[in-house]
Amino acid sequence: MNHAPTFLGLDLGTSALKAVLVDEAQRVLASAEIPLDTQRPRPLWSEQDPDTWWDAAVAALAALRAQAPDAYAATRAIGLSGQMHGATLLDAGDRPIRPAILWNDGRAHEEAASLAAGHPGLAATVGVKPMPGLGAPKLAWLARHEPEAFARIRTVLLPKDYLRLRLCGERATDMSDAAGTWWLDQARRDWCDAALAAGGLDRARMPRLVEGTEPTGVVRPAIAAQLGLTEGVIVAGGGGDVAAGAVGLGAVDEGAAFVSLGTSAQIFVASAAYRAAPDALVHAFCHCVPQRWFAMAAMLNGASVLAWAARLLGLSVADALAAAAREPDGPSRVLFLPYLAGERTPHDDPHARGVLVGLDTDGGPGAVMRAVLDGLVLSMVDGRDALAGAGVAVPGAGLIGGGARSAFLARLLASALDAPLTRYSGGEAGPAVGAARLGRIAATGASVAEIATPPPILDVTAPDPALRDAYAERLPRWRALYRALREEFRR
Ligand code: XUL
Repeated sequence: MNHAPTFLGLDLGTSALKAVLVDEAQRVLASAEIPLDTQRPRPLWSEQDPDTWWDAAVAALAALRAQAPDAYAATRAIGLSGQMHGATLLDAGDRPIRPAILWNDGRAHEEAASLAAGHPGLAATVGVKPMPGLGAPKLAWLARHEPEAFARIRTVLLPKDYLRLRLCGERATDMSDAAGTWWLDQARRDWCDAALAAGGLDRARMPRLVEGTEPTGVVRPAIAAQLGLTEGVIVAGGGGDVAAGAVGLGAVDEGAAFVSLGTSAQIFVASAAYRAAPDALVHAFCHCVPQRWFAMAAMLNGASVLAWAARLLGLSVADALAAAAREPDGPSRVLFLPYLAGERTPHDDPHARGVLVGLDTDGGPGAVMRAVLDGLVLSMVDGRDALAGAGVAVPGAGLIGGGARSAFLARLLASALDAPLTRYSGGEAGPAVGAARLGRIAATGASVAEIATPPPILDVTAPDPALRDAYAERLPRWRALYRALREEFRR
């Protein structure tokens, strides 16, 4: 006992819940990862049971406690991070009414289109065009298709905020997670009554809004006893996974940028002012720290596409990447569209799907994997160009997420984006570490500038000029393939 104070970060991802315990020197003392299942009962649907999130959090905390019992007992605060946009619907007894409808669920495309047609002026206020994965279209879908469930809604939460409710009994969310609902007035950092009313909702069913750096409550005594925590552990506002990842990297000031390649993929650029660009399908959202916002290209397909391809080829991801690296350099003649989960930026198309075009008998696993990598990096070029269309440049960026493990992929991506990419040691734990930092700020009153510093740099990958030019030449053909298939995807 008498361990120096520690801070806990929980990141409720889509494929796993991650937990880290961090000390005052920002060292990760213990970490755990508990896998999560996603249900896809119908085409375009993607759901999880909120109670499995809580079970995973309890298991992850038990693992941290087993790894570092004294440090765990010294926990002062918990920061929460998680998958954004998930509609978590609770009844009057705070029980989930139905499985949560996730960020990569495409069922609400008709409702998104009618919100866009009926309320064309709102996108500039709520930061983004209505798209099927966001909260408002999904609630509109529910009102239409499951009216009894809709009528029972007492509270709408974001996924990580269900963990908060279970931990400390508070219905609250932070600005960056609220930002992804299509109900937040991003400039004013408050709920937008007009956007709520457009879907038959009101403030009474929304959680209280806080900055990610603010405390929202303390862990309830009975839960603290169950989890082996001391009494009075603070639960901070936290952040959506992208914003919390930014805090983990120190990306809080104007222009700080990173590319995240996880289950999904984002290009993120922090800003000191709110600048909407909904027509470019850029997301302009509140950051999880006060007086900051960010511009984001959000792609629904990230490193998960590599895992999918490796599985199909019967290889580990590492072996599949090694096979691709043995192929001739330069973009593959085989074209690949990575839209396994549909796409948000730049297509807003839940029907888009994966496609491999141009296979021949010479192509083995390496050739297929190379094509998959090229398709993924070209989709990131689309994201960069969407940001450029909104006036946001990305001259260089950090690289985080599972995809950051591969130096080979970093080279392809840096070349395609024509921007140096910085990898950090421990970058994979991004959002969980960012959440722990937000917990620390909430508990100690430390400043964001003091705590949200960049982690140690692993390496910087410069673009390869020949490869950059080859990607630029391939881009128009690759883009034409989606256009040619768009109607086919809808059939
Ligand atoms: C961002 C987004 C995803 C989810 C899941 O807009 O949809 O990053 O947060 O990680």
